[in-house]
Amino acid sequence: MSAVETRIITKRIRDREEDSWTIDGALASGAYEGLKKAFTIGRDAIGQEQVKASGLRGRGGGGFPTATKWSFLPEASFPRYLVINADEGEPSTFKDRMLLEADPHQLIEGIAIAAFAIECNLAFLYLRGEFALGYERLVDAIAAAHAKGFLGSNILGSGFDLEIVVHRGAGAYICGEETALLESLEGERGMPRIRPPFPANEGLYAKPTVVNNVETISSLPHIILMGGEEYGKLGVNRSTGTRVFSLSGHVKRPGNYEVELGITFRDLLYSPELGGGIREDRAVKFFIPGGASSQWLIGSDEHLDAPLDMDYVQETFGVMLGSGAVMVYDETVNPVLVAWRLAKFFSHESCGKCTPCREGTGWIEKVLFRIVNGHGRRQDLDMLFDVCESISPGVMNAPFTQTTICSLGPSVVSCIASLQQYFRDEVLAMCAGPALIPVSAS
Ligand SMILES: Cc1cc2nc3c(=O)[nH]c(=O)nc-3n(C[C@H](O)[C@H](O)[C@H](O)COP(=O)(O)O)c2cc1C
Ligand code: SF4
Repeated sequence: MSAVETRIITKRIRDREEDSWTIDGALASGAYEGLKKAFTIGRDAIGQEQVKASGLRGRGGGGFPTATKWSFLPEASFPRYLVINADEGEPSTFKDRMLLEADPHQLIEGIAIAAFAIECNLAFLYLRGEFALGYERLVDAIAAAHAKGFLGSNILGSGFDLEIVVHRGAGAYICGEETALLESLEGERGMPRIRPPFPANEGLYAKPTVVNNVETISSLPHIILMGGEEYGKLGVNRSTGTRVFSLSGHVKRPGNYEVELGITFRDLLYSPELGGGIREDRAVKFFIPGGASSQWLIGSDEHLDAPLDMDYVQETFGVMLGSGAVMVYDETVNPVLVAWRLAKFFSHESCGKCTPCREGTGWIEKVLFRIVNGHGRRQDLDMLFDVCESISPGVMNAPFTQTTICSLGPSVVSCIASLQQYFRDEVLAMCAGPALIPVSAS
């Protein structure tokens, strides 16, 4: 396993920078060959054979096995819907945007394969509203795919029909949560649904529905072409294949990197072909390994040498690889300021449906603001824990319990749990002292 990119879903994007998003560029580099093969191997061989053998797990954040998710659809219940989650609102995550803008045909091909496998004739793509270029290219690509017979009626003579509806969101992070997304698609206010029923049984318009992330679906043409077993040989343990990591913060070379799962965080941050090291060769103070919702890791050898393995980091350190966004902070950074900024985001984006999240995110943001402004009190840290306890009871020992409908509320708890675990003295020093870093409330 090497600390360089393993380009599978980013191959066309890197090889054909000049026209990867056009139908001609895509066809010249093998687009829709996976779909043709999918029709020859047949519907039943896709999900429960190839995708299952590949070990593919969702790239949207939860890491749920894709074939298992598809298998939950009730038999003989139609119509069924496939919904692609292209909302990508998690702070510092920017890989779906690249996949959409630079290779929409790969995504359309993946949608067609998934829809064929689960017997769905109408797919929806929920697109982050701000993705103006992505929208344009996607709409053009859908029209071009239609013209070539990759979408529409009787695709490539297979007897299978498929249409794709593109729906643009309006800027709410919560609409990336799959049930809030379904509400929003139905024209309702984007608020998560209480489960059960789960989308597989009652999803969009109360019909069986699969919701999958852009990167998950973009992997399908390659799984079909390589064969699930071959794809499953990439990666480590139950974290198979490659993932596109959005690397940001104080690395010398921020950007999207597709790497084989199992390389270490140190590889990702320091390899000359990946992150390239830390700016001005400083030390890493801490990093957030899986998007803003994750708990943090620090610049210790133990953490930097941990493999990019979803289960390992969860079981060993209680953190997640989540949406594949790694935010790196060097030794000059004040972690309380970072926690405050994240809390402000979650407080702003809370949909308000459940009290612990609606009130708790706001309280946490206000108390952190007070601390970073030099008005902290010694008891503030305990107060923060009290609020966290009301969102995620027993948070320090069992991070995944929650009193809330969705996991946005517990996301804010991740910052506080991380401060407590690694930076308690720094927080207490700030509570006792004057303003270390004055910030504006706006
Ligand atoms: C607050 C919140 C925001 C989310 N935002 C996204 C998002 O922008 N994109 C995404 O794919 N998944 C997002 N998710 C996860 C989805 O609910 C869902 O698990 C995912 O789309 C399933 O696709 P996958 O199995 O292919 O990963 C979010 C979850 C939560 C709780
Ligand atoms: S946890 Fe927060 S965002 Fe999620 S449903 Fe409850 S109030 Fe809304």
